[in-house]
Amino acid sequence: MQTLQHRTQLRAALRTFRAAGETVALVPTMGALHDGHMALVADARRRADRVVVSIFVNPRQFGPNEDFEAYPRPVSLDAAKLEAAGVDILWLPEVREMYPEGFATNISVEGLPDRLCGAARPGHFDGVTTVVAKLFNQVQPDLAIFGEKDWQQLAIIRRMAADLDMALEVSGFPTQREEDGLALSSRNAYLTPEERAAAIALPRALGHAARTIEAGGDIAQALAEIPPSLLKAGFAAVDYAELVDAGTLTPLDRLDRPGRLLAAARIGKARLIDNIPVIPPVA
Ligand code: PAJ
Repeated sequence: MQTLQHRTQLRAALRTFRAAGETVALVPTMGALHDGHMALVADARRRADRVVVSIFVNPRQFGPNEDFEAYPRPVSLDAAKLEAAGVDILWLPEVREMYPEGFATNISVEGLPDRLCGAARPGHFDGVTTVVAKLFNQVQPDLAIFGEKDWQQLAIIRRMAADLDMALEVSGFPTQREEDGLALSSRNAYLTPEERAAAIALPRALGHAARTIEAGGDIAQALAEIPPSLLKAGFAAVDYAELVDAGTLTPLDRLDRPGRLLAAARIGKARLIDNIPVIPPVA
């Protein structure tokens, strides 16, 4: 595995792959790699000749009171995992390589970022789309793989790639979970053992509401039950719990299309998100 920190080196390495007619898959990450990230890497390994994984803790997607400084950065551990997984290039740019002096461009998708996570994190998705557009330009992959765990992020990146004629496939990969159902997340590391035990209430509440709605139960009532059940379990606050159209992310008050149930809630120092499909009855 080559670990590269400069665009010129990256370009040279990619040129060699291209000259040999090889396909390239990109897995963008912020590091602190867990089995969820590694499942995306394994999918990339299966689907392309060469795999590039980026690790970049992107300052533009963190709000002023968020955890940019505290975000875990176990770089050598991450590199060892990627090497063992057969990754060809670890793309590890520094902030000044990504955003040199004078950087002044913002990539902003309209509409999709306004609600759900975007409502509590203004500017967050502009930071994501700006850095992902740069990564796509730097690596020019045939395929880029993202986790369904960040469902809104995936929808926004698909929109951006389609709108800007980016010639690559944006692929979603199912959420990887702990044995008890909690979605794997770098931010789970912030949880105390008690908070970790309580956090399981998030996937459970979503699962319960999804089954109720799929069985024809009242949508508004099923959604309204989620926040109190999370607060009772030990969460400090619930940012949102919503049923939306799985593709457009517009709220659904009838299950007449494939839906997605998404929630974000705060516990201890962590803000956890999760989402699951809600499948309409066959007509
Ligand atoms: P990060 O949170 O490091 O996640 C990197 C990728 O791993 C994302 O596509 C995310 O959806 C996926 N992922 C995280 N947890 C997962 C899980 N439990 N199962 C499956 N996939 C999972 O998301 C980001 O970084 C950044 O916003 C980024 C896209 C890299 C732009 O900076």
